[in-house]
Amino acid sequence: MPRTSFTDLVGCRLPLQQAPMGAISPPALARAVAAAGGLGTIAVPPGGEVPADLAEHTDLPGGVFAVNLVGEDVALATIGRAARHARVVDFFWSWPRRAAVDAVHAEGALASWQVGSLDEARDAVDAGVDLVTVQGRGAGGHVRGDETLGALLAGVVDAVPVPVLAAGGIADGRGLADVLAAGAAGARVGTRLVATPESGAHPEYVAAVLDAGDGATEITDAFAVCPLCATRPTARVLRSAVTAVRGLADEQVGVLSTPHGDVVLTRGHGIPPSRGVSGTVAAMALYAGEGVGAVTEVRPAGEVVAAMYRDADALLAGAVPQPRDPGGRER
Ligand SMILES: Cc1cc2nc3c(=O)[nH]c(=O)nc-3n(C[C@H](O)[C@H](O)[C@H](O)COP(=O)(O)O)c2cc1C
Repeated sequence: MPRTSFTDLVGCRLPLQQAPMGAISPPALARAVAAAGGLGTIAVPPGGEVPADLAEHTDLPGGVFAVNLVGEDVALATIGRAARHARVVDFFWSWPRRAAVDAVHAEGALASWQVGSLDEARDAVDAGVDLVTVQGRGAGGHVRGDETLGALLAGVVDAVPVPVLAAGGIADGRGLADVLAAGAAGARVGTRLVATPESGAHPEYVAAVLDAGDGATEITDAFAVCPLCATRPTARVLRSAVTAVRGLADEQVGVLSTPHGDVVLTRGHGIPPSRGVSGTVAAMALYAGEGVGAVTEVRPAGEVVAAMYRDADALLAGAVPQPRDPGGRER
């Protein structure tokens, strides 16, 4: 597989970014992906602050990192702090704005924006971003737009002069090969990395992902309880979670333990269940993308990334494709 405009720009070896996934993607996951040659991403919670120990997390010889900031009102000082310790500052769930991009560039980092439409991609480029990620409607978690990845990717690749990453439903080498062949400079991968020892996902969430199979997700507003959201967000989750939350009698679905004390999780809350959660996990926001059927085993993140790259490389070189075996296990 040739180098891509993404790997050249960012300086990582593999054309793959680990998606930020809140507490599901702790720094250990970002470090594992970065050590394997991908772009590791440190997630900052909505309205939260860049971790004080960010520099320690991103201090990995040869490792390349992004910091993800979500929401409309991220302070410029927060952006600056992120940019001081990461190669890329990655924005989502806010319309692209030049002041944010300028704050990244002022610290010498690259600005990236995950977008859900061609209009948003164009505005991101007008705002000065160095790369964009297009998110198709097959993505796990909050879904920004309503187009399929294929349609959106084709439109954006033709329209913008910066490297384009593809996100949504990419969970194996075939998915990576498909988007590279369609003109993407790399892929952003979330759901596949939920089932890794480095992920922060609650074991019941991981088990539900492994059991799900193809066609097991839907876009819903059943998990739209979100104090900081201006509008009611929709997200792609396991359908089993929608069924479970609708059948829940209690207003409280569980409790999240944090260093600052316990937080009660009300029914329909948008926080995905991490290991710090107790309660009815099956009725929580089990975010998952359309590629969930390809996630059939827990495997170290570095191995996942290496296998995706190796399989994509073989496919793009015209080698005989490696089908999943009848048991659905990856080879
Ligand atoms: C559990 C989970 C949590 C997510 N949280 C975030 C987030 O905090 N910030 C963000 O930019 N994207 C978040 N996303 C969306 C990803 O950026 C990306 O679009 C998505 O994972 C790609 O689709 P895939 O999950 O099918 O690979 C999340 C996705 C998942 C599955």
